[in-house]
This record gives sequence, C-alpha cells and structure tokens, in this order.
Amino acid sequence: MIRLAKPGIPEAALSSVIEILKSGDLVQGRYVKEFETVLQEYLNTSYSIIVSSGTAALHLCLMALGIGKGDEVIIPAFSFPATANVVEIVGAVPVLVDITLDDYCLDVSGIVAKITDRTKAIIPVHEFGQSADIEPIMRIAREYDLLVIEDAACALGTEYNGRKAGTSGSFGCFSFHPRKAVTTGEGGLIVTEDRNLADKVQALRNHGISDNSGFVYPGLNYRMTDFQAALGLAQMDNIDKTIVNRIKMADSYNKLLENCDYIRTPVIFPDRKNVYQTYHILLAERIERDKLIEYLRRNGVQTNFGAHALHCLTYFKDKYGYEDTDFPAARQAYKKGLALPVGDHLKTGDIEYIVETLKNV
Ligand SMILES: Cc1ncc(COP(=O)(O)O)c(C=O)c1O
Repeated sequence: MIRLAKPGIPEAALSSVIEILKSGDLVQGRYVKEFETVLQEYLNTSYSIIVSSGTAALHLCLMALGIGKGDEVIIPAFSFPATANVVEIVGAVPVLVDITLDDYCLDVSGIVAKITDRTKAIIPVHEFGQSADIEPIMRIAREYDLLVIEDAACALGTEYNGRKAGTSGSFGCFSFHPRKAVTTGEGGLIVTEDRNLADKVQALRNHGISDNSGFVYPGLNYRMTDFQAALGLAQMDNIDKTIVNRIKMADSYNKLLENCDYIRTPVIFPDRKNVYQTYHILLAERIERDKLIEYLRRNGVQTNFGAHALHCLTYFKDKYGYEDTDFPAARQAYKKGLALPVGDHLKTGDIEYIVETLKNV
C-alpha cells in the first residue's frame, strides 16, 4: 500500500530517545529547549513555546488573549475541527466564513460582513500547507482592532511574500502530529513576538506556574516530553530538503494531471510558498469521491478527504442551525476534495502509478 503519509524519523533520533529514557529526565528539559531554539531560528521569531499538540497551542493562545464568553472569533468554514473546537471550549462563538477553492483558506472578501462589536479575533488557517491570504487579513484585523491567531498546524515552512506562516499574527500555532512533515507523535508549537504573551502561554502550559512569580494562573498541563522533542529536533536537520522534495512531488502531480478534465490541481500563487503538507485535488461534480477512495485503496493507494466543512459537522450544525448549503465552497471542498500521498516515503514511480490509477478509474 502506498501510504498517504509516513513519519520520517531519522535513525539518529532513536538513540537519543533511548539515552533520554535512561537518563530519567523525561519532561520539558534540555531537548524541548533545544527544539524551541531551532524552531525559533527557523521561523525567525522572538519566542517559541513547545506544547503537547496543535490543539493545545490554539487553546492556550485563546486563553492567553482572554477570549471567552460573549466573544466571537472568525474562522474558515473548512478546516480540521480543532480550529472551531477550541473556540467553543473557551466559551466563545466560532463565526464561519467561506473559503476560496483556489487556496482552501479564508475568503478575505467574506470577513468584514461577519465582524460585529463582539468580534475579538480571526483565526486564519493555512490549510494543507498553503498560506492564507495573510496580508489583507492583517489589514482588516488592524482596521477593526482584531487579534489574529494563525492556525499554521499544517504550515511549517510555508511563506507569503517571503514571510513565514505563523509569524504575522499575535500568535502562530503549529502541529507535530504524525501526518505532518515534522512529527513528534503528538506535539505543537506556539510562536509570538510579544514577551508578555510568551510568558503567559509558558505559564499556562505548565499548570499556571511562572518561572519568576510562582503560581499565577489556573493553567493546564500541555507540556511535551523530552524524548518527543528529540524526534522533532532530528527532523529539523532535514526540513529544507523535506520541503523541496514535497514541492517537486507536487510539480510532478501537477504535470501528470494537467489534462485530466475531472481533476483540479492546486493553484500556484507566485507570492506564496506552499509546502504541500497535503497534496489536495478537487474532483469534478460527477466523480463520487468516496468510491474513488475505495477504488484507489483496492489498487494499493491510500488517500483520504482533505478537511471538514465545519457547518456540516453534527455539533455545529445542531448548535447553530446551519444548512449544508450555507458555505458552498467549504462544502464542495469537503465533498469533492482528495488528499493524495506525498512525502519522503514515496518511491520512484509511485506518483506515476498513483496518477495512472486515478486516470483509469
Ligand atoms: C488546521 C489544523 N488545526 C489544528 C489541528 C490540530 O493539531 P493536533 O492534531 O496537533 O492537535 C490540525 C491537525 O491536523 C489541523 O489540521
């Protein structure tokens, strides 16, 4: 089976893990600190705080910004449910805006109409490793005095006009889940330029304990273990090569699928660098996506849908009374989107085989 994704843990990381386990210093120690430093340099940001998952990262940022009951947070209608769940968890209301089918990210033209006097923040998602249209989003945020938390869970290394995804808003949040190009099993990262916000999330991830002032907030335990950090650290040595490989693979798919009239390949934006965390295609209306997934599976290719239309998920539909037709682009991406295998685990000829199988359907 050609897998959709496979973690590429370097052999060298395994001996570090054993060493750490033997040392008995297991949680948030030297390796977490080193992983934070490497990520901080890579993303060119002032503060980086490692946490236990991408969801934990988003949750802590909302807490640190004091977003809660009575507040509204604008998010794209197409994402992984965590983007909306964390807003619910802090007691605020996720306000959905449709996406564009060019980048699968927030449709900037739909944001202003959703701003009310309760709106506190926007969470743009850099979906599939493509950057959201972040500059106009930041302009709107400045004009309406809104906070921005970038959900860059899938976007380590993604760029917009040369600036790394996750570094424009008050906070950027990343995930190290096994589907990501750099994985620690579970894991997440928060970056920020603001010293006070950095101190706050640092305390909140560790039961609310501040390095200098003792117990200052009711916090959580969202720490990462050192042996997980060692895995991430080892993968950061190869991050540039990993991304170049993904871009090459996406180019191969794009070329081979060029004349396939029932498949829309990702749009290339000259001012954005897509790291193809997911290589995502959009199928024509006449193609039954779930049958295609099954057909590909029978032919040895693992694929999956890309992300969820949040308004079609039972909880949000029931709570906010959404109709399936409310966010048409999000629904189309949800129903007709397909993620194809990409990553260093692919062998020569795999992409040709996958495309051939897709074309023979
Ligand atoms: C856009 C987005 N946000 C948040 C998350 C949550 O990250 P994690 O699984 O590390 O909690 C994911 C996970 O894939 C995601 O894709």
